[in-house]
Amino acid sequence: MSQNSSPLIEMRNISKYFGSVIALQDVSMEVNAGEVMCLLGDNGAGKSTLIKTLAGVHLPDEGHYFVEGKEVHFNSPRDALDHGIATVYQDLAMIPLMSISRNFFLGSEPTTGWGVFKRFNIGFADRVAREEMGKMGIDIRDPAQPVGTLSGGERQCVAIARAVYFGAKVLILDEPTAALGVKQAGVVLRYVAQARARNLGVILITHNPHHAYAVGDRFTILKRGRTFGTFTKTELAREEMVRMMSGADELDALSHELAEFARTDALAGGEEAGEADRQLAQALEKSEEVFSQGMEE
Ligand SMILES: Nc1ncnc2c1ncn2[C@@H]1O[C@H](COP(=O)(O)OP(=O)(O)O)[C@@H](O)[C@H]1O
Ligand SMILES: [Mg+2]
Repeated sequence: MSQNSSPLIEMRNISKYFGSVIALQDVSMEVNAGEVMCLLGDNGAGKSTLIKTLAGVHLPDEGHYFVEGKEVHFNSPRDALDHGIATVYQDLAMIPLMSISRNFFLGSEPTTGWGVFKRFNIGFADRVAREEMGKMGIDIRDPAQPVGTLSGGERQCVAIARAVYFGAKVLILDEPTAALGVKQAGVVLRYVAQARARNLGVILITHNPHHAYAVGDRFTILKRGRTFGTFTKTELAREEMVRMMSGADELDALSHELAEFARTDALAGGEEAGEADRQLAQALEKSEEVFSQGMEE
């Protein structure tokens, strides 16, 4: 197999045990560049264990793990990061009282000057943080403002923008929209779509079928540590989606929110950003149709 045709990441027959608990059994999956793979499943299904295995937190007990066609054995999250696999956990590693740009560069601070005169390069950090957030459609007026003053959705976006800037090829998001209201969820979903537009592979864990359906290209369903395989949007039985369905009002509000984003992005001149937003808004509308049909039957 040539390097180019290999998936970004691939798991083959992975198992992971915690004592007598079988957290994962014989799980296979892959993620390609420019796609969003949604990981679905009930509490305790093994979703977090799976992404922690991908992210180098856990070593699998059985099976094989490949990155761009080469087998890997990660001993730490650092190893995964070095391979371009970045994970954004729900409890973000951020310092609320520190500035946006400080948080953006946390652990990789740019410096200016030498020896005792060496200090954090504020000008560079502010500029990059503002630019990178802007590229994905968020206007940061003041990068010096404490990260704690941002909304939950915007904080997620800082974490995602940071991962993209530092060269992530694969972005793993564990329930990024779980604690967020509709508007904030829209902000994060839009960012997920932007990451895909920039050819990253995204693994998205979510409990919300609307969010999954709107941005997901393929879906892997876990149940008690086993996988039922991976499905495309058309393959995934509508009834299955309906079963996972929650309120339709929320979806409606979300579509409007995203349509609004598409308009403002287009106005701001970000053509690519506008296009990605429009597609996402369309996908949400489609999801709305599918769900309402499913409910009538
Ligand atoms: N560090 C751990 N030690 C022991 N058991 C664990 C550990 N992490 C997860 N488990 C168990 O593995 C199973 C899968 O958990 P998890 O991956 O967190 O599921 P999910 O994220 O889908 O809710 C659960 O039964 C959980 O109790
Ligand atoms: Mg979990």
